[in-house]
Amino acid sequence: MSEPKTHPVDGWAEVDFNAEPFLTDFKGVYEKLHSSGCPFAHSSVGDHYAVGKHQDIMDILKQYDVWKSKFGPALGYLETPGVLVSVDPPEHTFEVRIVADCFSKEVFESLREDMVQFVNEQIDSFYADGEVDLHEAISVTFPLFVIHKLLGFPLQDEDGTSRIPWIRDGLITSVGMMLAPQNREASVASLDPSDPGVVGIMRTQQMYIDHLADCKEKLASGEWQNDTNIVCRFLTTTGPDGAMLTDEKIIGFMGFLETAGSATTTIMLSNIIYRLLTEEGAYERVRNETHLFPITIEETLRLDAPVQGLFRTNDTEVELGGCPIQADTKVMLLWASGNLDPDVFEDPMKFDLDRNISKVKRHLSFGYGTHFCRGAPLARMEGEIFLNAILPRLKNLRLNGEVEMEKRIPVLQGIRKLPIAWDVE
Ligand code: HEM
Repeated sequence: MSEPKTHPVDGWAEVDFNAEPFLTDFKGVYEKLHSSGCPFAHSSVGDHYAVGKHQDIMDILKQYDVWKSKFGPALGYLETPGVLVSVDPPEHTFEVRIVADCFSKEVFESLREDMVQFVNEQIDSFYADGEVDLHEAISVTFPLFVIHKLLGFPLQDEDGTSRIPWIRDGLITSVGMMLAPQNREASVASLDPSDPGVVGIMRTQQMYIDHLADCKEKLASGEWQNDTNIVCRFLTTTGPDGAMLTDEKIIGFMGFLETAGSATTTIMLSNIIYRLLTEEGAYERVRNETHLFPITIEETLRLDAPVQGLFRTNDTEVELGGCPIQADTKVMLLWASGNLDPDVFEDPMKFDLDRNISKVKRHLSFGYGTHFCRGAPLARMEGEIFLNAILPRLKNLRLNGEVEMEKRIPVLQGIRKLPIAWDVE
């Protein structure tokens, strides 16, 4: 076992981000970090530090020459090169040049019609029942549908069987390991190969390999064009000096996008409805005033950040809150805590639809700076399409039983079951 890189620091909170006291009251922990006047934490379990204050997080993100992404956004140190969130400039700049066109407004808008149709068809399928678990029915399926549309392959096998169950098992296991001390490869290797999560990870990986081969073949035969899907775009875009993404990187991109774009948005969608149905007067108000959709989405993202925090690793010894941090230490940037910083957001625990939206958009739920989420406009569009479909169609919407929280993914905090009911007309 290697020597710990971190140690408890006087005045800093000691937090195990994987354990019950944090998981059952993470907002209470963030509130204490802010009120203590010393918004830093140490975690002996996992051997890392954490930063909770909005300004400190932004300061770290501005110094990307010191605080690196190369060891990955998870706690375990990445050994094989990753993509985007796991690389630094100039490699990051090269990758961004290649992927920039795939994340344009035009590409996202070209999906709108299919997105609207998908959500409406989902609603059609359960409307007459008068009740549903909205999380499973739409929050999980919709973001996966969107990502698969972007990547260009279906959510069903050739015989029509849905791939969602094993994709979900793989995703939950994969993201669930982000706070494990070892890296993803080692974590997967330590699991039983028959575990549904491991089976899901393996099947998903094979799906990416097959899709890459398919794209190459169909591009060569002329059946598909450069812009047929994101993978075709990757295969036909050159960066500076004519360099292109390797097959390994393209497969890495598919995995990253599926995870980054679906697990997060799933949480956001259920949180939006949960907030509307539990905050006094919110549902009635937003239902009648559709111009409030954007602030509803943004305020939910601020107050209920889907991703609690992600890591950076310092290249050289630095000081953090007056404490020397030795090189190559993992430090967690707590987006969710920065969003509750009373120095930036007045009365931060209050869900307030009358806030100024530009001020709310200072939330860190999509990160900040070099690695700011490239899918943010798409996630916001998903939220808006979701609200536009649900609120007018499901009248007298209400909670219909116990809302369960997802406990399997400590780094993402959100709902697992959202039972709702409405009046069928
Ligand atoms: C509510 C939904 C979402 C949340 C909360 C979210 C959150 C984040 C965060 C916190 C980061 C920054 C990572 C870091 O600094 O280490 C990020 C990066 C990223 N996200 Fe998202 N994301 C969401 C949806 C999406 C969607 C729908 C997509 C794609 C379709 C996407 C694609 C990306 C990409 C490509 C990056 C990497 C940017 C870079 O390194 O240059 N995200 N996301």
